Amino acid sequence: MSSSLATVSYIGATILFILSLGGLANPETARRGNLFGIVGMAIAVLATVFGPRVTPAGIPWIVGALVIGGAIGLFAAKKVQMTQMPELVALMHSLVGLAACLVGFASYVDTSTVFPTEAEKAIHEVEIYLGILIGAVTFSGSLIAFGKLSGKIGGKPLLLPGRHLLNLAGLLVVIWFGREFLRVHDIQAGMTPLLVMTVISLLFGVHMVMAIGGADMPVVVSMLNSYSGWAAAATGFMLSNDLLIVVGALVGSSGAILSYIMCRAMNRNFISVIAGGFGGGAPAAKGAGGGAAEPQGEVTAVSAVETAELLREAKNVVIVPGYGMAVAQAQHTVYEITKHLREKGVNVRFGIHPVAGRMPGHMNVLLAEAKVPYDIVLEMDEINDDFPETDVSMVIGANDIVNPAAQDDPTSPIAGMPVLEVWKAKTSIVMKRSMASGYAGVDNPLFYKENNRMLFGDAKKMLDEVLAALRG
Ligand code: TAP
Repeated sequence: MSSSLATVSYIGATILFILSLGGLANPETARRGNLFGIVGMAIAVLATVFGPRVTPAGIPWIVGALVIGGAIGLFAAKKVQMTQMPELVALMHSLVGLAACLVGFASYVDTSTVFPTEAEKAIHEVEIYLGILIGAVTFSGSLIAFGKLSGKIGGKPLLLPGRHLLNLAGLLVVIWFGREFLRVHDIQAGMTPLLVMTVISLLFGVHMVMAIGGADMPVVVSMLNSYSGWAAAATGFMLSNDLLIVVGALVGSSGAILSYIMCRAMNRNFISVIAGGFGGGAPAAKGAGGGAAEPQGEVTAVSAVETAELLREAKNVVIVPGYGMAVAQAQHTVYEITKHLREKGVNVRFGIHPVAGRMPGHMNVLLAEAKVPYDIVLEMDEINDDFPETDVSMVIGANDIVNPAAQDDPTSPIAGMPVLEVWKAKTSIVMKRSMASGYAGVDNPLFYKENNRMLFGDAKKMLDEVLAALRG
């Protein structure tokens, strides 16, 4: 492929990636956005593999790697459950970081490139140093995020004494070794500062994510998404690949914007979350929810038939789905119930919390899959004022996002996080299997409120029974 054709392909791929991001912003256009992304990536890979910078001898290696990597990706995508998606994404981010580190070391020891001036060589070395730094933080941080999201590592934040000083000291050492790295002129001497910086960056990544409490993991996930973009951009600089720079910058900046939105949604200070220690004090949360919290009162249980009765008598119903709906895969039954109630003239709407589930947009994706109309799916801010006029609020497998302690208890690890005020409805019904806590590992006073009812059981099974009772 000629270099001009490769350039045109890169421009085409870039446009498709931008269109893809635009499409993903809305559930109605998300499918199209995904398609743009797939086509853009296919063009990008073909233009790179068959582009002017790959020699014919290199092609079998690249094709071999593509086949192995593609097969692993296909296997993982087929095997992974929807609820394990965030863990998979965290693992993928770690691979981007690892790739940036490996490319950094490879381009440092590669002596085939001749730099016309000392300044250009220095710029290339800065790219390598920063690329490996971002890559190492992304790699180790994402691995820890994977551990936390999958429940292999507890959700309790690890708060080392003097952790901010530790971070600061690490930063100063990295800057000092960076200066050393640029000062030396042979590869062997440069390897020591490069390796020291890599180890410190790996430790920083571990420390940064370990210090974050369960409730703040959403911000960390989107932040690592952003880091993986910057790591890809750094790889693009090291390889002088414009497309990788542009794509990396797109992912990096969109991830940063998402992190900011998440922080606002959770009423958290961005810098404080990055510095760690937020969400502290939470009992160890299990990754997939279900950490034990001491029950603090009596609850009123109801049956599926009684739930159907309450729904049948209601005029206004708000459904609040959470992680448990994803676990139970109950979205299709939720749709059937919604359809049935709407046909009977009940005003049914959905309230979606920005961090419901385990990844951004998790609930929207599930509801869209089940064909729930978009116009009745509302954001938290759009529906929160309507709860006092709501007859029944039905919480399906949600916990932290409907926890009044976020408003009432300043000592709670989730204090300050905006929540869906389901308890303000005439009756709230919480559907879950037990009294176990949610992801943040805190007890939920909602369960003990006088107007609250608990429908215990698997969400899919219970909703099937509710639907049968409604139809019967
Ligand atoms: P959670 O607070 O985790 O609560 C989910 C509840 O679902 C659990 O209490 C569990 O109780 C119940 N459940 C699990 N399986 C169920 C099943 N098969 N049937 C019925 N119920 C089931 O979820 P949430 O309210 O959606 O809040 C999200 C939490 O995850 C927040 O703390 C958020 O910070 C965190 N988080 C979010 C993200 C993003 S980006 N969304 C990323 C990482 C972490 P039982 O075990 O008793 O059934």
